[in-house]
Amino acid sequence: MEKILVLDFGGQYDQLIARRVRENHVYAEIKGYDDITLEEIEKAGYKGIIFTGGPDSVYEEGAPSFDARILELGIPVLGICYGAQLIAHLSKGSVIKAEDSSEYGRTVIYRKGGRLLEGMKPESICWMSHTDFISRIPENYQITAFTDKCPVAAYEDDNKRIYGVQFHPEVTHTEHGKGILSNFVLKICGCRQDWLMEDFIERSVEEYRKSLKDKKVLLALSGGVDSSVAAVLLNRAIGHGLYCVFVDHGLLRKDEGEMVEKIFREKFDLNLVKVDAKERFLNKLKGITEPEQKRKIIGEEFIRVFEEEARKAGFTDVLAQGTIYPDIVESGKNKSAVIKSHHNVGGLPERIAFKQIVEPLSDLFKDEVREVGRKLGIPEELVYRQPFPGPGLAVRVIGEITDEKLSMLKEADSIFRTELENRKLTADANQYFVVLTNTKSVGVIGDGRTYGYVAALRSVTTEDFMTAEWTKLPYDLLETVSSRIINEVKGISRVVYDITSKPPGTVEWE
Ligand code: XMP
Repeated sequence: MEKILVLDFGGQYDQLIARRVRENHVYAEIKGYDDITLEEIEKAGYKGIIFTGGPDSVYEEGAPSFDARILELGIPVLGICYGAQLIAHLSKGSVIKAEDSSEYGRTVIYRKGGRLLEGMKPESICWMSHTDFISRIPENYQITAFTDKCPVAAYEDDNKRIYGVQFHPEVTHTEHGKGILSNFVLKICGCRQDWLMEDFIERSVEEYRKSLKDKKVLLALSGGVDSSVAAVLLNRAIGHGLYCVFVDHGLLRKDEGEMVEKIFREKFDLNLVKVDAKERFLNKLKGITEPEQKRKIIGEEFIRVFEEEARKAGFTDVLAQGTIYPDIVESGKNKSAVIKSHHNVGGLPERIAFKQIVEPLSDLFKDEVREVGRKLGIPEELVYRQPFPGPGLAVRVIGEITDEKLSMLKEADSIFRTELENRKLTADANQYFVVLTNTKSVGVIGDGRTYGYVAALRSVTTEDFMTAEWTKLPYDLLETVSSRIINEVKGISRVVYDITSKPPGTVEWE
């Protein structure tokens, strides 16, 4: 398989760049600039290299850099933002800081020519974010675009196949961004477009059929997208050699446990054990109000239940995890352990001595995992599920968790989700749920005074969940949901809508 290297200099868009490359059906992998050597790059046979942006200034001592011979390997290079400045810096051009020519946001760009920018209109919009700029280009390069403030918005040496853009083609605000990236990977690097999910499935199934032959593999199935796709993929490879444990901690949404079980039992011939551990979890959580303590308790109890099941099943061979590529990149970045803790709760693999860990999705981005899921025949309701935190409703019942509060929350949450989904508003609402606050308020129903909990509706619009806007839901939806919750859920007397974005708020309340 042909591949592109995304060499990361500390930019915030490294994953976005890799995803954009992969949208062209070309495999891209991300490496930190200090995690790979020139020799390794040469040996790996990359078809092209993309330098990412970064927060530093190339001319400062200690700023991220690379062996200048990378530009002499004959492999096409595209530098983005800091990456473009680095190319200039390494090739004896000049980069300077000029406060009055810094640019941020949507900017008009004028194209003069160049191979990389082929197909771009003479005047279009790009996304800029820089203070430094290239003041002098290296010898033999030509300027191919400029803006009102930036004399070198793009430049290239097409003979050497080295290109730089000061703007961010990976960001959707750049009108011709996609075209520029596909010019680079397809026309300039000449990549074959051999990164296809059908092939991925076929390759993985074949590989695991061989490597896991006669082994027993244990997988913690949460019903989330990643573990579900990993389960079906491995099930296709080794059938009942895969043993899935689904721990129902009682903190799932209404009917969720049943839905997950039904799908896997009816649609797939999966070796599945569902453990009903509601009582255990609720007992452990009795009297606990502090959010992090709730998470910790749930994490630990989860491990305990899982360990028991592994022991009952009598094996410690292989543990399968639904780790995906962003998990690996992120953990590589902060040099922490590469193994994902299950649902972000606890360190499962350290506690159980598995001889081997397999992570069949560790090369894939979330959208690719979804595509694999669809191609494997997993129903859309599962493949497109909104994220759900590992500790489940425990972090949505503020304060102490009781059976009664959980029931109220499940009902209210189900009403909100149903109404929103019935109106087909899920394109804008990427995660939506109800929080049961710990505040009580006075109300009146008929002639009677009520005194019940305040429920908060939460819905966010986001691409990556790192930042999020509150969703501008229609008033009539909010009205219907509020009225239904008050009328149908005993114990809730008031409904509010959370209009906090992230930052400064987080998506969850706890
Ligand atoms: P926050 O609240 O941090 O949430 O803005 C961002 C995203 O992460 C999910 N989330 C969790 N997921 N374990 C998880 O697996 C957790 O403890 C956890 N806390 C938050 C949250 O639902 C949102 O999608």
